[in-house]
Amino acid sequence: MGNTLILYGSTTGNTEKVAGLISSNIENSEVVRVEEFDFSSIGNYDNIIIGSSTWGIGDLQDDWEGAMSDMKNADLSGKKITFFGLGDAESYPDSFVDAIGLIYNDIEGSGATFIGKTPVSDIEFDASVAVVDDSFVGLVIDEDNESNKTEDKVKAWCDQIKPELN
Ligand SMILES: Cc1cc2nc3c(=O)[nH]c(=O)nc-3n(C[C@H](O)[C@H](O)[C@H](O)COP(=O)(O)O)c2cc1C
Repeated sequence: MGNTLILYGSTTGNTEKVAGLISSNIENSEVVRVEEFDFSSIGNYDNIIIGSSTWGIGDLQDDWEGAMSDMKNADLSGKKITFFGLGDAESYPDSFVDAIGLIYNDIEGSGATFIGKTPVSDIEFDASVAVVDDSFVGLVIDEDNESNKTEDKVKAWCDQIKPELN
């Protein structure tokens, strides 16, 4: 399996925790906080797993706000890319995990191949920018209301994406 970058932004540590769980399920993976990532090294990775929580009402996590221009300018052609989004479906049902949808929208034309979609039936919510063609663009995790499900969801999703990674 090729090299996998797990690139995340996290304000209170939930996305960071899930990044670590994903890494323990994916061989040859490296976890990097997006604020500290040197985008000139992006060529070293065959796969990118992008993680963000959502803040405000449907906003990117702060570290991603500063990194999006670098992300948009990066050469992503040929890479396999997927997402994991942290959100709170009970308090923010109309902007649930929007951030990963915003990032997807910015890089969907990059020449990367997008993998790891998950069914909207996995969780109750009303609206999300992260839903594309009736599926979430990646794994969605609600640590605020159902943290007991997180480990099993991460493991099942990693089993789903592993055969598709470069
Ligand atoms: C002020 C505030 C605004 C939030 N806005 C949203 C939102 O619009 N959509 C959503 O799904 N979750 C929202 N959340 C929930 C966070 O995304 C969730 O707690 C997440 O697990 C935080 O992850 P982090 O610690 O990695 O930043 C919000 C939480 C707070 C406190």
